Amino acid sequence: MQPENNIAELTALDLREEYILVRNLSEKICEPLEKEDYVPQPVPFVSPPKWHLAHSTWFFETFILSNYLPGYQIFHSDFSYLFNSYYNNVGNRILRTNRGNITRPTIETVYAYRQYVDQHMAIILESVDDSRLLDLVQLGLHHEQQHQELMITDIKYILGHNPIFPVYKIGGTLFDPENTEEGFVDMGEGIYEIGHKGNGFCFDNELGNHKVYLHPFSISKSLVTNEEYLNFMAAGGYQDFNLWLDEGWAWVNDNQVSSPLYWHNIDGTWFQYSLEGLQKVNPKAVLSHISYFEAAAFAQWKGMRLPTEFEWEAAAERLNWGARWEWTNSAYLPYPGFTRAAGAVGEYNGKFMINQMVLRGASVATSPGHSRKTYRNFFHTNERWQFTGIRLAR
Ligand code: AVJ
Ligand code: FE
Repeated sequence: MQPENNIAELTALDLREEYILVRNLSEKICEPLEKEDYVPQPVPFVSPPKWHLAHSTWFFETFILSNYLPGYQIFHSDFSYLFNSYYNNVGNRILRTNRGNITRPTIETVYAYRQYVDQHMAIILESVDDSRLLDLVQLGLHHEQQHQELMITDIKYILGHNPIFPVYKIGGTLFDPENTEEGFVDMGEGIYEIGHKGNGFCFDNELGNHKVYLHPFSISKSLVTNEEYLNFMAAGGYQDFNLWLDEGWAWVNDNQVSSPLYWHNIDGTWFQYSLEGLQKVNPKAVLSHISYFEAAAFAQWKGMRLPTEFEWEAAAERLNWGARWEWTNSAYLPYPGFTRAAGAVGEYNGKFMINQMVLRGASVATSPGHSRKTYRNFFHTNERWQFTGIRLAR
């Protein structure tokens, strides 16, 4: 079980402390980087670390300082164009695919931007009495935590696609844990409550709380290990079209996929790029970096299936989770009663509720205080650069 230590019910003092902790962690994540690592965008779904540091800062500047701090002067008139991610309500912006072209402003200027915004946020945080403002500060902090995880996975992609496989950092919490669980949890049929409840922070996509009926099911206590996945590969899993969804089979063939992301076969031995450099695949460690297509094919090969997001949430208290984002068999759709907020904040989650699948849990790269059993992460079926894994159900 994962403690629900989210940034909940904060006092003004807590909020100031939390603000500093979260903002510092982003910079801490970048400490091992060289200047050159901050810039490239090797593929469209990866953003440069420099862009993440600036975008999460732009979020506070745009949604809080510009609206709530009288007389606030924006740091630079180009920055909204450069660091707005996808908010049509906020205006024109650089194409996502061009984020790697932002060689200027320099990284020093981006750190100065962070400091400038932090200094002005400190004035706002002196006295937060408006509940709308409090909600926005919390959203800004949870937003930055989302970007912290994205920054780690994007750094891994950038370094992991450098032919000399540089080390990010030795030690720390980003290791691949070994599986220690076995067996299944049996869940009875019945009506289960789904979605966030209470006063703690949640994203809008976790609302509203509602009931679902579930047939009896069993869900694995363990995450699939590298060893189990190696067995799937050895059994010809990537060659057997009967195991794959049609789009998955097309993806395997179009991209010549035959192993998880970051795996390299060197003279018959499987190696894996990790943030500690290139290492032998540890068979006992939990599998990572697979697409929804691969998760579904593996489950098919096992004669099982992926849990729905509702089954996952109903069983969560009885599971050990948090090492991997777990693909579910649920499309990312609005819960009953979901509404999009007016304006830019309404673009945060709601407009992505098409053609993506829900992942539940958290990962070794998820920031402390950013996990909840009701958390709904979402990615496209072919994406596998997050720390994604498989939990089976039947
Ligand atoms: C929930 C991880 C899919 O990557 O766009 C960042 C997180 N939302 N800024 C994403 C997010 C706004 C989001 N994911
Ligand atoms: Fe963002």
